[in-house]
Amino acid sequence: MEIIEQLGSLRDSAIERAQAARTLEELDTVRVEVLGKKGSLTAILRGLGSLSAEERPAVGKASNEVRAAIEAALAERRSLLAEAARSERIAAEAVDVTLPGRTRLPGRQHLISQIAEEVVDIFVGLGYMVAEGPEVELDHYNFTALNHPPTHPARSAADTFYVRDLSAEGAARTGPLTDVLLRTHTSPVQVRTLEKTRPPVYVICPGRVYRRDIADPSHLPQFHQIEGLAVDEGITFGDLKGTLDHVCKELFGKDRKTRFRPHFFPFTEPSAEVDVSCGICAGSGCRFCKYTGWQEILGCGMVDPNVFGYVDIDPEVHTGFAFGMGVERIAALRYDIPDLRMLVEGDMRFLRQF
Ligand code: PHE
Repeated sequence: MEIIEQLGSLRDSAIERAQAARTLEELDTVRVEVLGKKGSLTAILRGLGSLSAEERPAVGKASNEVRAAIEAALAERRSLLAEAARSERIAAEAVDVTLPGRTRLPGRQHLISQIAEEVVDIFVGLGYMVAEGPEVELDHYNFTALNHPPTHPARSAADTFYVRDLSAEGAARTGPLTDVLLRTHTSPVQVRTLEKTRPPVYVICPGRVYRRDIADPSHLPQFHQIEGLAVDEGITFGDLKGTLDHVCKELFGKDRKTRFRPHFFPFTEPSAEVDVSCGICAGSGCRFCKYTGWQEILGCGMVDPNVFGYVDIDPEVHTGFAFGMGVERIAALRYDIPDLRMLVEGDMRFLRQF
């Protein structure tokens, strides 16, 4: 019977198409085209009416079997494709919990602040108070009251940044244009402190200072100093030596030695520069200490009686010592930093080490 053959080939091609479907959408197209209202099987079944009564049962049975076979093939393919789609989605959504996370770098203090704080802490431990002064300073505090003669070379505009206050009140207040400057050292805080505090005075003064230098491996136009001042009855050079020797050992290690070399500062008499034994060669001489075995770390001395004159302290009753150290210099010595500019360039690969 021709119609039975038709049903057979329809079943075969429908099953083949179902098995070839690559997506659930493609499979559904096959279902509609075969089993739907306008589908090919439906069209054949519509022709059933014209069959004779003897033919009808056999054809009816065959067509039911064909429909069932096609539906089974569709169902089988559907569950296969649904499973594949599910695994694909799971793979796409997968989270690898073993991947490293996005780390946020914690902020921290800059090396210079760390060292300044460390030095201040050493002196606070010795009973000193912290004092601060302005970075924009008057010539009086930076030079005059520190016993610099009017012609002292440090006062030249080639060495010092002078500030002009261009406002009317500013001009009226400050007089000569060289009156206001960026402080070239923290020593003016000595004068400001002695102006408002009577001895005994023990202060430590950290701060930023400015000099008209071109930045190079050993100079920055802006850097940091820590000033110390002790004024009391009976303060001697021995007290100065003992104090600074203690601080150097705290900062650089117990095995380091100090030596005091005569020097000159207008505001201390006598004055000295302090060297600490080289940490690289332990004093035997190497290129870091220029084969001297020593590295210079600070300037110091006994407060000059002329400075006491500016703040009304009687040098027959009170004596004192003062010192000033460069924080960048301490950092460079402690960590063998070859170029001070690295401290201000903000390169995290360098700064993160500290
Ligand atoms: N102010 C001096 C400098 O900047 C250092 C110093 C401070 C020297 C205190 C003696 C006493 O070089």
